[in-house]
Amino acid sequence: MTGGGPVGVGVIGAGKISEQYLANMAAFPDLDVRFVADLVTERAAAVADTYGVPGAGTVPDVLARDDVEIIVNLTIPIAHADVASKAVAAGKHVWNEKPFTVDRQSGRTLLEQARSAGVLIGCAPDTFLGPGLQAAKRMIDRGDIGQPLTASVVYQTPGPHRWHPNPDFLYQPGGGPLLDMAPYYLTALTHIFGPIAGVAALGSSASPTRTIGAGPRAGEVFDVSVPTYVTALYDFQTGGIAQATFSFDSPLQRVGVLEIAGTDATLATSDPNKFTGDIRVAKSGEADWQTVAVTGAEGGRGIGAVDMARAVRGGDRHRATGDLGLHVLDAMLATADSMEQRTFVTVESVFEPVDALPEDWDPTQRVV
Ligand SMILES: NC(=O)c1ccc[n+]([C@@H]2O[C@H](COP(=O)([O-])OP(=O)(O)OC[C@H]3O[C@@H](n4cnc5c(N)ncnc54)[C@H](O)[C@@H]3O)[C@@H](O)[C@H]2O)c1
Repeated sequence: MTGGGPVGVGVIGAGKISEQYLANMAAFPDLDVRFVADLVTERAAAVADTYGVPGAGTVPDVLARDDVEIIVNLTIPIAHADVASKAVAAGKHVWNEKPFTVDRQSGRTLLEQARSAGVLIGCAPDTFLGPGLQAAKRMIDRGDIGQPLTASVVYQTPGPHRWHPNPDFLYQPGGGPLLDMAPYYLTALTHIFGPIAGVAALGSSASPTRTIGAGPRAGEVFDVSVPTYVTALYDFQTGGIAQATFSFDSPLQRVGVLEIAGTDATLATSDPNKFTGDIRVAKSGEADWQTVAVTGAEGGRGIGAVDMARAVRGGDRHRATGDLGLHVLDAMLATADSMEQRTFVTVESVFEPVDALPEDWDPTQRVV
């Protein structure tokens, strides 16, 4: 126990993903969700009611609360920087959904603002802190596959317009399979290989419009303004190369593939967009995978905010940092630049890599 008691949380953004966060955070004793805010205050009130959160209202309302120490920012990507910056200005720590922001400059400005204010900034995805990817990291670090050399990533689906009730933002700048889904895979890759040095990529779009498939707006046609197929080669600063495909243009759905080939074996991680799942290992010369079962509390979305809350109360440094979020954003924007320019693009930013979590790390236990 580090002491000090649960850290007060205010959620901004009561949309689709808030349901998972609020359900999970109720099971994390180091967090106490005290307020939900949204531009649409009726939505904030309804969500607060469903999940037993005592307060609901506007963004200024939540920022004025002294009992809210961390803002969990679940707004849409184009609003991330502005909402997070207002929260920092109000003296709050911020946990941001991904992508960190939608452009490098606002991301850098936000980190600088937080440093001067002495508050912490964290960024999703926190899936890499889940038992699945942490077990894979521990296996790789202890040499189970020899020296890790290369990686293959596959994420391909027909696209989220089929199930998301308001999917427009997923097909606009800040979205697409690159900014929406690559954060999970690139964060997992950087946890294993360290910062990305450069990227070469190609992209395309199957169609200039999509039709909403579910919810009250089903049948509505909206514009697509980002590539919906992206294929990229990543070069890591301290060695290692990865090939990755991120697609909303695939009639066949195949997701969650992250395979790391080492000198002695290939390891397939659990789905980087999930918190746990089996790991598979194929040793050199063996035809079949061997499955390694993963144990440990799954936790779910919000475990990075728990790690941050423990740092707020004086524990270790937190792990899903804004520096990492900005690096992953930088790598994704470099991927987009490479697609446009048809050249290899250098990634300038870095972050400080973190070790694997201890095997008994558990977001569902009280620590603060
Ligand atoms: N939906 C998913 O499955 C999913 C999964 C993982 C991560 N995310 C991420 O979570 C974030 C939110 O996604 P979502 O699917 O919940 O979106 P959503 O559109 O369902 O909800 C976003 C909510 O934020 C509110 N909002 C927007 N701008 C605001 C502002 N300036 N101030 C206050 N409220 C504001 C909207 O009114 C809306 O209620 C995105 O960054 C997305 O990448 C979504």
